[in-house]
Amino acid sequence: MADIETFKQENRVFAPPAEFVKNAAISGMDAYHAMCKEAEQDYEGFWAKLAKQNLQWKQPFTKTLNESEAPFYKWFEDGKINVSYNCLDVHLENGNADKTAIIFESDDATVTRVSYRELHKKVCQFANGLKSLGVKKGDRVVIYMPMSVEGVAAMQACARIGATHSVVFGGFSAKSLQERVIDAGAVAVLTSDVQVRGGKQLPLKAIVDEALNMGGCDTIKNVIVYKRGSGEINWVNGRDLWLHDVVAGQAETCEPEWVDAEHPLFILYTSGSTGKPKGVQHASAGYLLWAVLTMKWTFDIKPNDVYWCTADIGWITGHTYIAYGPLAVGATQIVFEGVPTYPNAGRFWDMVQRHKASIFYTAPTAIRSLIKAADADEKIHPKQYDLSSLRLLGSVGEPINPEAWMWYYKNVGGEKCPVVDTFWQTETGGHMISPLPGATPQVPGSCTLPLPGIAAAIVDETGNDLPDGNGGILVVKRPWPSMIRTIWNDPERFKKSYFPEELGGKIYLAGDGAIRNKDNGYFTITGRIDDVLNVSGHRMGTMEIESALVANSMVAEAAVVGKPDPTTGESICAFVVLKRPRPTGDEAKQIAKELRDWVAKEIGPIAKPKEIRFGDNLPKTRSGKIMRRLLRVLAKGEDITQDVSTLENPAILDQLKEAQ
Ligand code: PRX
Repeated sequence: MADIETFKQENRVFAPPAEFVKNAAISGMDAYHAMCKEAEQDYEGFWAKLAKQNLQWKQPFTKTLNESEAPFYKWFEDGKINVSYNCLDVHLENGNADKTAIIFESDDATVTRVSYRELHKKVCQFANGLKSLGVKKGDRVVIYMPMSVEGVAAMQACARIGATHSVVFGGFSAKSLQERVIDAGAVAVLTSDVQVRGGKQLPLKAIVDEALNMGGCDTIKNVIVYKRGSGEINWVNGRDLWLHDVVAGQAETCEPEWVDAEHPLFILYTSGSTGKPKGVQHASAGYLLWAVLTMKWTFDIKPNDVYWCTADIGWITGHTYIAYGPLAVGATQIVFEGVPTYPNAGRFWDMVQRHKASIFYTAPTAIRSLIKAADADEKIHPKQYDLSSLRLLGSVGEPINPEAWMWYYKNVGGEKCPVVDTFWQTETGGHMISPLPGATPQVPGSCTLPLPGIAAAIVDETGNDLPDGNGGILVVKRPWPSMIRTIWNDPERFKKSYFPEELGGKIYLAGDGAIRNKDNGYFTITGRIDDVLNVSGHRMGTMEIESALVANSMVAEAAVVGKPDPTTGESICAFVVLKRPRPTGDEAKQIAKELRDWVAKEIGPIAKPKEIRFGDNLPKTRSGKIMRRLLRVLAKGEDITQDVSTLENPAILDQLKEAQ
């Protein structure tokens, strides 16, 4: 995690280039302030106007915001719409049918271009295929697919028929997949035989089989498999179908299912502070509206741009800024199957050069690892590539430290591209706090100012506003169209997690700490205030990892904390008490490896603890509460200076000091 002191002292300011300002959708700070004022003066009018201007409605809405069941807010509720229609059909009607929608680059650098007309056809056939299997409006469909045109088409096809998708990242284990299938009560899983990354074929369908064999997934009628690889796979007759067979002979058009504005477009599971992942539920119209607006405002998207977001469709960034936003604005975008380090760590820069990308959006972790790689090998340094097509850079998923920001700005952007450090979350649906590239002067490490219409504020534990310059709790004081609607199957948890009574029950609690600069009002995110970790931009609950560890028969107790890591932002450090005596030496190493593999099986490789320390016990208060803040200090390798007089067993701290 970036050091807050570094941010406080940061005083470099980078104004947007004049040329950029001149052509930007929101041009100059006066334009930004005018929009904020408009939203303040007539909040509903502001959003209603934008929703009418930016979306195509089958039936126009007459009510903008319904707060009567707050915090279950409803937006544009009597309007009818179809998200896929807004992403595809509108471009066929406005003369952009032959424009490239997707430049797909596979792991081995094979490039396929798909026009809006072709994508529309693919999605319609996919949608008709799903319908032929009985999938209908309101059904849930799990998508466990690699980065591919088919993956994007799968999401769009669900949207087209009104099925609610739940994409599960391909790095999650069979167990995680099974839990998500059960929680959503899904009727089908869309997957592929394998995913290809870094020259290797990794099984996906086999994991689906394993998940469904674990039991409890009786709602699943079909598994539809996109053929990506070459090998044989296990097949369950009657349940499994190849995608090419499902779409063969299907009509090339499919009348969209017109749904209510509030119809659940998707569920996306994310980690919270308890063990069980939360199914974040998003609506259709409000979500799409914000995807469109932020494409225009934050990314300043123009007809000739070649836009590239490097996220995976398994995360919210891949939903809003690959599967929906770019298509809704008719952009040309790159979709990349592979990894940034294959065949070498110059892959991103090589792709920017070859495809003449103009907007590039990635995570700080990727930037930091590419800095390391470029330092080690001059040949793949960005300066070896022609990156002159770039005009805008973006960052997402975790705090970007000023040094990484500067490197990105200088070496990738050639000191001419604004950098938009976009703060947002799975729950917010789209960007919340971010510079506007043609308006906001940027300060490295700060996500700067809330977007127009977003009432972000910093408060204390009881919901009172804090004066600028004080660190506090980040909240959003008014509902906005793309906000989370509920937690699937758990409205009570939704209320408790995001609209707690302590803050009055009506303001959205982001779960992050933030500080606002006294001079310019800029926000800097200081990190999560709950038990959620951010490892390489992947969000993970400490309790989730702890539950996985204690599910192992060797483990008596476990506590997981985050440890600052120069590349991944945070890394996972687990303190474990075994049922057997505390192991040391080779035995400790062996058991640590077993436990790491166990967590990978329980949750997924992304949740593997980097470090496991064994103790006879954990530091606890006399009432038995684990003192996590002490564990965080120990994980960092620092000496404990805090008062430990309330500890029942202070001697344990010495034992846990060192990694075995
Ligand atoms: O802690 C914040 C961090 O990522 C969390 C949200 O994670 P997730 O729902 O997986 O969404 C990631 C992609 C939007 C936030 O609560 N975060 C995200 N963006 C930033 C950030 N922290 C600092 N600066 C950011 N730009």
